[in-house]
Amino acid sequence: MTRPVRARIDLSALTFNLSQARRAAPHSRVLAVIKANGYGHGMLAVAEALREADAFAVASLEEGVRLREAGIDKPVLLLEGLFGADELDAVLRHGFELVVHEERQVDWLQSLGPAATGREDARLTLWVKVNTGMNRLGFPPGEALRVWDRLAAMPVVAGLRWMSHFACADEPAHPANASQHAAFSKLCAQRNAPRSLANSAALLTRPDSHYEWVRPGIMLYGASPLADDERAPLPPLRPVMSLESALIAVHRCDKGDAVGYGQAWVCPEAMPVGVVAAGYGDGYPRHAPSGTPVLVNGREVPLIGRVSMDMLCVDLREQPRARAGDPVVLWGEGLPVERVARAAGTISYALLCGVTPRVPRQPRGDAG
Ligand SMILES: Cc1ncc(COP(=O)(O)O)c(C=O)c1O
Repeated sequence: MTRPVRARIDLSALTFNLSQARRAAPHSRVLAVIKANGYGHGMLAVAEALREADAFAVASLEEGVRLREAGIDKPVLLLEGLFGADELDAVLRHGFELVVHEERQVDWLQSLGPAATGREDARLTLWVKVNTGMNRLGFPPGEALRVWDRLAAMPVVAGLRWMSHFACADEPAHPANASQHAAFSKLCAQRNAPRSLANSAALLTRPDSHYEWVRPGIMLYGASPLADDERAPLPPLRPVMSLESALIAVHRCDKGDAVGYGQAWVCPEAMPVGVVAAGYGDGYPRHAPSGTPVLVNGREVPLIGRVSMDMLCVDLREQPRARAGDPVVLWGEGLPVERVARAAGTISYALLCGVTPRVPRQPRGDAG
């Protein structure tokens, strides 16, 4: 026996969710976002299951190289582009596509000069990132055409594309969506090239933002891309990760007994308390309050007391027959990760990405 915590990864759910993205954006190509170790699911297994995607997006050269070393030869886009000129050789060698969002990245590309053009692999596809209102990465629309033309003149550049990113797509009625979209579309009209704007939320709620490439991330992993209070109808998505464990102890506490560190939760009556082998050392949120739902034997019970590094406790009054060894789901099948995120005051992205390396990922199911 080993410690029972594990993340089951349902590969068939990934392919199902990809098919939902394609159905919602039938005229666009899909750039599947698999950065941060495939949103915590295990990037290589995710890439393999999503082999029908048109391209992959990652955050760093290292992530891209891992894909290539695993034999994945699809287009791979580095979403933050170059962090230094020293990455260029590997970028060319592996044929990675680059986001360009900053002037010094243009200078680094320029520094390749004519020497690079003799290289057989010196054909770069670049995505010019435009800041349409997110104010994170990208050139202001007023500078983007100058940058575009500078890049277009470089012999090493094989193709240019437009990209921008929504700040508030998870709130479909937010006025920033329309203004960002208008700024993007006005700019793109001045240089005809493939465009990409939509993340998962926009893919599912703003068909006019699909353009030639959509960039879904979270929906592929089966979590809702909309903010908590948004009730827009979404197509069904299937959760890919189930974070599972088991009860490792069940004991009876008396009225007035306090449970866990800080004695933060006090039993209101004599009651059974279960101890689950999962804690913040596994990525379960330390700040999840008492009352956060946990599934024991497929039925919800509330978390009680503070989450420890390796364990958390649950109130078993609704399940008086539960025993050590009984199965527990922290999130996933039967308990959407969004519900746990909401209870813990965080987002599903952070919970999924935060599952720590000591938790074995167990892929299962046929990716199709
Ligand atoms: C530039 C960019 N595009 C697309 C995505 C995917 O977003 P989502 O997971 O909300 O679909 C991300 C995610 O962070 C991103 O940074």
